[in-house]
Amino acid sequence: MKLLSHPGAGWSVRRATGVDFPEITAIFRTCLEDFPWRGPALEESLRLRIALVRTEILVAEEAQAGAIGFLALERKTPYVSHLFVDPDWQFCGVGSGLLEVARDIARRPLQLDVDVLNLKAQAAYQALGWTVVTPAGGRAGDQIRMLGP
Ligand SMILES: CC(C)(COP(=O)(O)OP(=O)(O)OC[C@H]1O[C@@H](n2cnc3c(N)ncnc32)[C@H](O)[C@@H]1OP(=O)(O)O)[C@@H](O)C(=O)NCCC(=O)NCCS
Repeated sequence: MKLLSHPGAGWSVRRATGVDFPEITAIFRTCLEDFPWRGPALEESLRLRIALVRTEILVAEEAQAGAIGFLALERKTPYVSHLFVDPDWQFCGVGSGLLEVARDIARRPLQLDVDVLNLKAQAAYQALGWTVVTPAGGRAGDQIRMLGP
């Protein structure tokens, strides 16, 4: 069932199933190429696999392209452990669409952690009205805790 549709851009958001996991993993791996500061790819893939099993996964898809983005939501907290949009589909509203659906499901403002070096994502969250709850310490590997609107 579609939870959100963007008629202009042609993509929609729904709950993911196991069938989506290979495409989700491919998006994740592609995006990680822009994160040279992150740890070994194997460790990151393991974290994603745990999230795919333990959290609620939303996927954005487009008819021709298939899966173009995904979000992992820990509903109780509510905390977004993963939000990744295929680079070819960034700046098309996909990230904000996934966050909007997750916010509706959680019925409370969401939280997430973003790498201190991930300035693009920080700029996107700020554009969407997110605020910094816990600023980073002094280390490059630090993360910033942010709270959504
Ligand atoms: C961060 C990310 C999820 C944003 O998704 P997106 O689909 O590109 O974002 P949207 O198109 O919905 O844009 C939302 C807003 O953020 C702004 N924005 C998006 N990327 C931006 C960037 N790199 N720099 C500045 N602003 C940006 C958009 O202009 C838009 O603002 P507006 O509402 O004022 O027009 C996406 O860039 C991504 O997957 N990045 C790689 C993985 C990553 O960093 N994930 C976050 C881990 S915490």
